[in-house]
Amino acid sequence: MTLDSVLTQAQKRRTIRHFDSTPVDMNDIRTALNIAATAPSGADMQPWHFCVITQDAKKRELREACEQVEREFYESRISEVWRQDLEKLNLQIEKPFLSEAPCLIVIFKQMKHEDSPGHWVPNYYVNESVGIATGFLIQALNQAGYAMLTYTPAPIHFLTELCGRPENEIAEMILVVGHARKDAPLPQLKKKTMEEIASFID
Ligand SMILES: Cc1cc2nc3c(=O)[nH]c(=O)nc-3n(C[C@H](O)[C@H](O)[C@H](O)COP(=O)(O)O)c2cc1C
Repeated sequence: MTLDSVLTQAQKRRTIRHFDSTPVDMNDIRTALNIAATAPSGADMQPWHFCVITQDAKKRELREACEQVEREFYESRISEVWRQDLEKLNLQIEKPFLSEAPCLIVIFKQMKHEDSPGHWVPNYYVNESVGIATGFLIQALNQAGYAMLTYTPAPIHFLTELCGRPENEIAEMILVVGHARKDAPLPQLKKKTMEEIASFID
C-alpha cells in the first residue's frame, strides 16, 4: 500500500449522519481497536477504554439519554457563535443514527489509575493520548470501508454510568460506525490547502 493510496482513501472519509442497517463485522471492529491501541500515550499509560455497543436496547437507551442532553444544550447552554457555526451542518436534536447504526463505540479516557490498592494517580496527557488513539481507530475503520460519525453530546459525563464504566473514566465521544445510507446528504465543506495547514523550514 502506497501513501498515495492511503491519502486517496482518507480523502473519501466524510462524517456520515445517516446509516443503513447492514451489520458491522466484529472481526473488523476488533482489528481496528487493536490498531487504536498501538497509539503512543503519555508515559505509556494507554489511558483509553472502548465500549462497543451493538445491542438494540442499549442503543435505544443511549439515544434517549443523548436526545435529552441535546434538548437542554440547544435550549439553554449553546452560545450564539456556536449556534451559527453549527448552522451549515444542519444538526437536529433528534439523533436517529444512535439507534439505526449497527455499532456505537463509546471511547473513554481514564483520567487516573490505581497504582496500588486505594492509591490513585493521575494519567499524563490523557486528552492528547486518547485523541491520537481515536484518530488511529477512525483511520483504520475508514480504510476498511466503514462510515462514521464522531458524536459528542455535551455534557458527556452520563455515559460513564450508562456504559457501566468506573468513575475514573470520562467519555470522549461516541464513534458511530456502520455503512452510509445511499441517500445520506453531505454538507459541502472546503478543506484547507497545504499552504494553510503546513509551513516548512528547510
Ligand atoms: C471532536 C469532534 C466532535 C464532533 N462532534 C460532532 C457532533 O456532536 N455531532 C455531529 O453531527 N458531528 C460532530 N463532529 C463532526 C464534525 O462536524 C465534522 O467532522 C466536520 O464538520 C468536518 O466534516 P467531515 O468529517 O465530513 O470532514 C465532530 C467532530 C469532531 C472531530
